[in-house]
Amino acid sequence: MSPRTRFATTQIRAYDRGSLAEAAALIRAGEPVAVPTETVYGLAADATSEAAVAQIYAAKGRPAFNPLIIHVADVAMARRLVAFNPTAEVLARAFWPGPLTMVLPRLPDCPVAKLASAGLPTLAIRLPSHPAMRALIAAAGVPLAAPSANRSGAISPTRAGHVQASLGGRIPFILDAGPTSEGVESTIVRPDEQGVTLLRPGPVTAEAIMAACGLPVGRPQGEGISAPGQMASHYAPGKPLRLNCTEPVEGQFHIGFGPGPCQRNLSQDGDLVEAAATLFAALHEADASHFAGITVAPVPERGLGVAINDRLRRAAV
Ligand code: TXA
Ligand code: MG
Repeated sequence: MSPRTRFATTQIRAYDRGSLAEAAALIRAGEPVAVPTETVYGLAADATSEAAVAQIYAAKGRPAFNPLIIHVADVAMARRLVAFNPTAEVLARAFWPGPLTMVLPRLPDCPVAKLASAGLPTLAIRLPSHPAMRALIAAAGVPLAAPSANRSGAISPTRAGHVQASLGGRIPFILDAGPTSEGVESTIVRPDEQGVTLLRPGPVTAEAIMAACGLPVGRPQGEGISAPGQMASHYAPGKPLRLNCTEPVEGQFHIGFGPGPCQRNLSQDGDLVEAAATLFAALHEADASHFAGITVAPVPERGLGVAINDRLRRAAV
């Protein structure tokens, strides 16, 4: 059966004790379930089962070489999977639970499916703060592999409706706990004793990481694709998108930042936190609109603006 026809309907259920128990039962049965985190909705499955992880790739239509983030309920669960170095310890204390993912070596007896890390000797691991995701991991009793709950290459979902639009009929169940608070995917870093490599900018900024560990934070240098999410086109809407447009353009859906005319404003007040939380909903709305293309106002390259511009540049490819 093709993923498109596996499920006659996709159930969307408000997050409560009953829906949580149903979601956990599906996870234990090897099925993928969409669940909110504080960043974006994830498509979660039992990370220790190759077959369950394969269901994620099938539902998303994701290239099998793109490894997944493994979500844990607490630090003890993380320690059973990967080897922490002193820098990772400091970052875990400073930013977990929260939107920081760390790439660390798999332990020799790490039970996570090889498919989840695409055969790499490392795992991307994260302890999220969202109560629904943490409760689901705890109820399922296993770490959960979870990429963003959208078709491969499409815009990340920040609401249950976005998941339904992208994966409806391809997955059995969506836990709906309302819009996510952070709005952009977690920061991904590779910490070691000399410093921290920033693989994907996100809600935890380079400045905050530097302040927490006192080590230099740099972008990867000439090492190819170590976070394939860095591949140029990854968060793409289905129509052309132009950046740094200070004015609306005739026939284009204009996404504004700060005061001025537009179809949708990321933040009237020029607030970067509000803009991050609104970003993907604005891209979804622009994509679904009758406009032939999308223009976006300039967003300053500081704080959360670094992550916002990173996602916008990739959406524009
Ligand atoms: O906020 C988030 O991080 C969301 C929520 C659901 O947790 N997840 C998310 O997953 O954005 P995804 O699959 O869309 O992006 C995961 C990124 C990809 O760029 C992938 O290449 C990278 O993590 N990644 C995974 N394992 C890796 C590893 N061992 N080494 C380097 N990069 C890795
Ligand atoms: Mg994604």
